[in-house]
Amino acid sequence: MSKNKIVVAYSGGLDTSVMVKWLKDNYDAEIITFTGNLGQTKELVGLEEKAHNSGATKSYVLDLTKEYLEEYAFPALKAGAMYEEAYPMACSLGRPLLAKTLVEVARKEGANMVAHGCTGKGNDQVRFEVAVGALAPDLINIAPLRTWEFKSREEEIDYAKANNIPVAATKDNPYSIDENIWGTAIECGILEDPMAEPPEDAFQHTVSPEDAPDQPEYVIIEFEKGIPVSVNGKEMDSVSLVKELNKIGGRNAVGRIDMIENRLVGIKSREVYEAPAGIILHNAHKELERITLEKSVAHYKALIVQEYSNLIYNGLWFSPLREAIQAFVDKTQEKVTGMVKLKLYKGNIIVSGRTSPYSLYDPELATYTAADQFDHTASEGFIKIYGLPYKTINRVMQKAEDEKKSFVL
Ligand code: ARG
Repeated sequence: MSKNKIVVAYSGGLDTSVMVKWLKDNYDAEIITFTGNLGQTKELVGLEEKAHNSGATKSYVLDLTKEYLEEYAFPALKAGAMYEEAYPMACSLGRPLLAKTLVEVARKEGANMVAHGCTGKGNDQVRFEVAVGALAPDLINIAPLRTWEFKSREEEIDYAKANNIPVAATKDNPYSIDENIWGTAIECGILEDPMAEPPEDAFQHTVSPEDAPDQPEYVIIEFEKGIPVSVNGKEMDSVSLVKELNKIGGRNAVGRIDMIENRLVGIKSREVYEAPAGIILHNAHKELERITLEKSVAHYKALIVQEYSNLIYNGLWFSPLREAIQAFVDKTQEKVTGMVKLKLYKGNIIVSGRTSPYSLYDPELATYTAADQFDHTASEGFIKIYGLPYKTINRVMQKAEDEKKSFVL
């Protein structure tokens, strides 16, 4: 009987394959692997067998794509959450769901420990461990990559060979890629030079603007209460809809992001992302809000969305503040229903129309024609009072100036 039972968040890559055996030996543990499918295009078949061959007694491969979109990505879309105003947070939003499911598997299996394969200098370790701690404070988190003896990939491969751990002899990919249906993050290699333009081979799902069609492509997206429900008039479930927009955006070079990002652990890193559907949906949703949200609600929402985005990025999805802001955000979305028409053209997203049954745009107030219903005469009194403080400042200061002069005399 092993002393410990560990559920490992398992990708099937070199690190987590080596981890299975390493944990088994170093913790005298029975190992169970868990792999969450968040809609990545990477093949997940054969993972159970691979885990078994690395020393696991049992493995779970669970499809979480729908839950990921509906319970994590779309709530963040409703908020308009982009980290540092650019990154739609595909990785950041996936981690709390993976951590939650990891805990569920651990409970089901009666495990006392969980382990992940995140490095010691990234955000993901924080997201995993803080989420696990918030959901199951008694579970012990293990992060072998922070402590084990291997200093390089080669050393891990040697260990794998010595222990008959099957590692695919994949050709060396110069990039570290983390992918799910909401977006792909690409790091390392030449991308570590912030002045180097990302080579075309870094991108997995989008063509370059140069290779995009010379004709624009229009796309109409319909939302109900802030949630996308149809594309070009066709109702779709969440997963099909996002897949469809990834395709449409990808072929028009839409959704590439290249940024220097502030990590929670204090490092600035160069990040390249692809998120065609995410970027299209954020643009469309923002535009629909412009026509449906009352001015002060829209302005106030913008003030708290930065805090909300930081909470998600910094691993605090399962926190009272994130939940409280979410409740506010959800309330604001009650009338964010309608359609937005976008023109996609060589990497650009151009808004070309919007409509809503709850549109607050009133043509009779907006028009400059004879149909105008706006009371122009009311503006006189409005401006008088609105501008009163500034007139007062001038008057008072002038008086003070004059009195000072007479005082000096
Ligand atoms: N910087 C991004 C984030 O913290 C992406 C992390 C990507 N992870 C990876 N293994 N490449 O959300």
